[in-house]
Amino acid sequence: ARIRRYKWEVKYEYKSPDCYKKLVITVNGKTPGPTILARENDTIIVELKNSLLTENVAIHWHGIRQIETPWFDGTEGVTQCPILPGDTFIYEFVVDRPGTYLYHAHYGMQREAGLYGSIRVLLGDGKTEPFPYDHDRSIILNDWYHKTTFEQATGLSSLDFDWVGEPQSILIQGKGRFNCSSPGIDAGLCNATPSECSPYVLTVIPGKTYRLRIASLTSLSALSFEIEGHNMTVVEADGHYVQPFVINNLFIYSGETYSVLINADQDPSRNYWASAKVVSRQNTTPNGLAIFNYYPNHPRRYPPTVPPRGPAWNDTAPRMSQSLAIKARQGSISPPPPLSDRVFVFLNTQNKVNGYVRWSVNNVSFNLPHTPYLISLKENLTHLFQQSLPPTGYDFVNYDIYREQDGNGTTSDSIYRLDFNTTVDIILQNARQLLQNRSETHPWHLHGHDFWVLGYGDGKFDMFNDPKKYNLVNPILKNTVPVHPYGWTALRFRADNPGVWAFHCHIEAHFYMGMGVVFEEGIEKVGRLPTSIMGCGDTKGWSQRP
Ligand code: C2O
Ligand code: CU
Repeated sequence: ARIRRYKWEVKYEYKSPDCYKKLVITVNGKTPGPTILARENDTIIVELKNSLLTENVAIHWHGIRQIETPWFDGTEGVTQCPILPGDTFIYEFVVDRPGTYLYHAHYGMQREAGLYGSIRVLLGDGKTEPFPYDHDRSIILNDWYHKTTFEQATGLSSLDFDWVGEPQSILIQGKGRFNCSSPGIDAGLCNATPSECSPYVLTVIPGKTYRLRIASLTSLSALSFEIEGHNMTVVEADGHYVQPFVINNLFIYSGETYSVLINADQDPSRNYWASAKVVSRQNTTPNGLAIFNYYPNHPRRYPPTVPPRGPAWNDTAPRMSQSLAIKARQGSISPPPPLSDRVFVFLNTQNKVNGYVRWSVNNVSFNLPHTPYLISLKENLTHLFQQSLPPTGYDFVNYDIYREQDGNGTTSDSIYRLDFNTTVDIILQNARQLLQNRSETHPWHLHGHDFWVLGYGDGKFDMFNDPKKYNLVNPILKNTVPVHPYGWTALRFRADNPGVWAFHCHIEAHFYMGMGVVFEEGIEKVGRLPTSIMGCGDTKGWSQRP
């Protein structure tokens, strides 16, 4: 295994990813930032300089379990103090498995200012993938807002609630196109000519097979991705091999990664559209477009056809059936323990708390503490957060998930303490949100682990019958999973990674509004904490400790 060193500088710069000029956060001048390329078991060292002038930062390595390095998970408030302006912080961790992963800011709502990128971990030397392909490519899908994260965060946390609304554009590998002639757009800020906002081009050689790694880091949107005239074979999800299946369009939720195989076997005399469309929410966001370019056609030549329209935004059935189709690949199945030691049911609702709109789990909306849990738990500073346990379920006999939430919620910074090495089931139960008669899709992401996806269903989870239908034979392992509108999703994981780990909705605004929980396991097994993660809250000055 090798050591891969990166020197990154994070700063604000003016960019026009969708032709509209705004301040974005770049890594070494780019958004998306540089791709981390490694082989399994390599050590990654990122020396991160915060040049944001007036803003803290922290970077999370999404999908990397951080075994024996829980302090480098990069989750502000959970595993580390924020990195102050002018400071340099060194992340050092092992990428212990091949697959497609991500990195992104994990401080406030900073991710959506553009601080994100890909991690591609290849198999160790001499190993081969179970499916053949000629070339390997990555793209990240994202949604894009013109308002700053500060305006958005302020709107969300004001009594006079101001929702962020639908994104202005969809970006494919950092490029999109906003219509600069829309009414009310300042011509000085919107300019349709910069090369930054010309569509992303994916060039292919006729007859070759491509492994396309597709990831989503949207703030809000669920997406459907397709390449006009080409089917895709799904082979990987969140770093695990999938029993291959063929699709026309891929539904992808924020925090998920997939690999698909695409054969460049269509008429090579022209180019094709690649398109990403918002689904699950009624929206006005134009589809994100890229060019699937057959070499040697000119890469900027627009396809002669109208871009695909994509599926209807409000049709949940095909999304549910894609979720159900994702199974572990034969020959690489690691089945879950047949029974669990503990079951949590997490009701997902929107609540009012003292007049503020919040998202909650079992009517408790999460607040981050000022001293990161990892430090307060390791150092026995347990007075620094609420010690009562958060609720492990809700009133599932009487609660009507189709009715508007009537009770108020509470906020808390309490966490779930898991017995080390036990098996934990989580049932995510979706419900109706406030005011509107609908239920949203929430992609839940677990830090520090993968979980088996045991099942999905519509309506209210039935404690007696639904567990009998769990897939215990070949469930896929993932780190991010959707809970569909008015549906449930059941997961199982082993609490075998000493540390403190966030589990939250990957929608930026939802987590910001409290839609998350924290698990502690095996804190006594965590090694000596590096002082570099300290310095905030009750650990002021500790970063200078010997
Ligand atoms: Cu990719 Cu806690 O998030
Ligand atoms: Cu959510």
